[in-house]
Amino acid sequence: MSLRITVIGTGYLGATHAACMAELGFEVLGLDTDPKKVEQLSAGVLPFHEPGLPDLLRKHTSTGRLRFTSSYEEAGAWGDVHFIAVGTPQKAGDHAADMTYVDNATVSLAKSITKDALIVGKSTVPVGTARRLQELVNSVKTDSLNVELMWNPEFLREGYAVRDTLTPDRLVVGGGSADAVATLRQVYASALSTDTPFITTDLETAELVKVAANAFLATKISFINAFAEVTEHVGGDIRVLADAIGLDQRIGRRFLNAGVGFGGGCLPKDIRALQARVSELGLDRTMRFLSEVDEINLRRRERVVHLATELLGELDGRTITVLGVAFKPNSDDVRDSPALDVAAQLYSAGAEVSIYDPEAMNNARSRFPRLKYAESLEAALQGSHLTILLTEWQEFSALEPQDLEPLVESKAIIDGRNVLNPDTWTDRGWRFESLGRRSVPALATSNSLS
Ligand SMILES: NC(=O)c1ccc[n+]([C@@H]2O[C@H](COP(=O)([O-])OP(=O)(O)OC[C@H]3O[C@@H](n4cnc5c(N)ncnc54)[C@H](O)[C@@H]3O)[C@@H](O)[C@H]2O)c1
Repeated sequence: MSLRITVIGTGYLGATHAACMAELGFEVLGLDTDPKKVEQLSAGVLPFHEPGLPDLLRKHTSTGRLRFTSSYEEAGAWGDVHFIAVGTPQKAGDHAADMTYVDNATVSLAKSITKDALIVGKSTVPVGTARRLQELVNSVKTDSLNVELMWNPEFLREGYAVRDTLTPDRLVVGGGSADAVATLRQVYASALSTDTPFITTDLETAELVKVAANAFLATKISFINAFAEVTEHVGGDIRVLADAIGLDQRIGRRFLNAGVGFGGGCLPKDIRALQARVSELGLDRTMRFLSEVDEINLRRRERVVHLATELLGELDGRTITVLGVAFKPNSDDVRDSPALDVAAQLYSAGAEVSIYDPEAMNNARSRFPRLKYAESLEAALQGSHLTILLTEWQEFSALEPQDLEPLVESKAIIDGRNVLNPDTWTDRGWRFESLGRRSVPALATSNSLS
């Protein structure tokens, strides 16, 4: 008989996983404690932007192969394999991950399970969590049942989530008996049929693989951004530098794009949670470099505000257009978005900020209702003293100065993602600034590096 799959927590990760499991032919039940989300997903409506996912959701909810519920009793009685995909956000006022959602979900599920089952964690968690959760499960589950717990971290990228879930570049599975591993092989049979690497390991390694991957990616971005601080100071072009070092195959060019830095619901909180966890373990110095990675990243946002002040003389009373507030293109996610943070900083400094983003307007508005949200790109640019590109949506990367000139008040632009060609803009009389490519005379002091 085909395995019945539940997915506990149906946010970005869980909704994607649930729909993709249905696409692979499984019967799937998604569970979320947010009744509005359950209602929307049940109606085939995706509450966030993810290319390709609305089609899968509609297709499989309409046949009944994919269903959603808020009932742990229903999930526990029905499922054979339960994926845990609830959030692990940063705790308020602390770098550590808030584990209440994972703990609550696991306990609620384990108490409700009425047949032998496998619990598979997918959320990104501090090392040691899975072993602790297995003990929790053992303490609340029905004694006669065999309920195993494994960890199977998720590497999907928002914007490519469907592709990454259906055809992952690797699968990592921690813990579990031989039978449990065989069950997960059955779940992932489609990917395994194309020789996707299937790495089986212990619980701790599986947990650490995920945070190590994110720590590495964050470090790579901050590494190039640290060099951008230098080229801004001494002259030079960070893009050429990145191309040149990226040709060394040991380094590689990807994730070496200097700009306003990383954000989103994963990288920032994951590097902070990792530092917090290793400190708890008594390894205070081990991940200290990640606080530098974090600081370099946050300084890039200040740099954009600094450039805006330089270009405008002062921010108070000036109209600034911000293009993009999603933390990256092809997503409506504004969690820890560098773009939205810069927009808020400009607003706090007195500027009138007019925002346009193809998908992230509603999410941004609910976080910062006082910023101005334009109805269109043209409306956002109208009367602007300065345009700042902060999320590299294709429609922004393709902009030409001629598109903006009839609308803006002043020909001044900051390319916060290094996607525009400076010559194209300066040739038409624009004042053009970017990160890591100095086009105006050097700043007078070395304070900009401090
Ligand atoms: N978003 C990504 O691209 C991505 C990629 C890889 C890993 N992850 C990890 O996956 C996890 C989830 O991330 P996300 O972005 O999907 O978060 P999210 O906030 O979008 O979704 C979490 C969902 O869990 C639900 N939830 C909370 N407590 C619950 C409970 N007790 N029972 C049932 N549902 C509950 C929430 O209502 C919400 O819908 C995190 O650990 C994250 O680090 C995310």
